[in-house]
Amino acid sequence: MRLSNALLVLTAAAANAQRPADVSMCDYYTKTLLGKDNTPENQLQLITLLVNTVILGNYTTPNVGIAVPGLLAPAVVNGENVNLLPYFSGELATTNRGDCHGISVNFLDGGGPAPLLQNKPADDETSNQYFLITHLYQYFGTLIGCSYQGYPAFPAYAGAASMYQSHKFMNLDYAQNKYFIDQHVAAAESLGFSTADGKIFSDNLYNVFAVRCGGPTSIIKTQGPQLQSTCLTADCPNAADSECDLYPALTASTGNSAKATLSKKSEL
Ligand code: HEM
Ligand SMILES: *[C@@H]1O[C@H](CO)[C@@H](O)[C@H](O)[C@H]1NC(C)=O
Repeated sequence: MRLSNALLVLTAAAANAQRPADVSMCDYYTKTLLGKDNTPENQLQLITLLVNTVILGNYTTPNVGIAVPGLLAPAVVNGENVNLLPYFSGELATTNRGDCHGISVNFLDGGGPAPLLQNKPADDETSNQYFLITHLYQYFGTLIGCSYQGYPAFPAYAGAASMYQSHKFMNLDYAQNKYFIDQHVAAAESLGFSTADGKIFSDNLYNVFAVRCGGPTSIIKTQGPQLQSTCLTADCPNAADSECDLYPALTASTGNSAKATLSKKSEL
């Protein structure tokens, strides 16, 4: 009798700990994990912990005991060596600055990990690092539904609209996309997101980005429907609504030879 009462109490506690369907992950976990009110500042703090954990690996509290290796650590995914660091360090000429080819940009030029460890995007607010990391806060803030975005303390996303255009010269394959996404999900769960919410977050990222030739999809409402696929190689699953003729980099012969060079480099 005692035991079953105790079990009932536990079940009730678990049910209470579940996010109501009409509250976004951002709003819910700002309250429950940070123990703070929903304000632009506090929602930005949650997303800062999330994105900085993605990049650095787990470094902070709250942490519920889930280790996160981090985006820049080399890994083996589906038997393939994955090393994303060269795309961020400027070692590869893969950044889209509007030309017909990629250029090299060092995105770790704002102090690298040191400011991230202090829960900041960068030391230098004119650095590539600052723009990239603040854009990631803004974009992922929208992806997890921050309701207090669009205020001076937590601006709306101000980066490139199409994730395909941003990433096209990286010619990323499925294992690279998988590592990127799985680090986001592990980081969220390490902060205390439930596994159910981790699954929702993961499914959304896989369905929109880690597919080949996804049709125009709206993520940032004011930017409208955009090409969002970041997975470009033949091993990426086709999007349910695939429209490959909208993805010229997939058919251009230069794209294919760039891929051959790139995969060699990233296997080093
Ligand atoms: C789920 C898929 C992904 C999403 C949602 C995403 C999101 C973003 C966003 C919002 C930006 C900022 C764009 C801007 O500042 O205008 C960005 C830039 C960048 N991403 Fe991703 N990304 C994804 C996958 C990847 C992967 C797999 C890599 C692997 C290397 C990667 C590497 C980069 C790099 C190097 C930049 C800087 C490029 C630039 O500023 O032009 N991303 N990403
Ligand atoms: C990362 O998380 C693991 C698992 O909880 C823990 O053992 C490790 O100390 C954490 N690392 C840091 C730097 O906090």
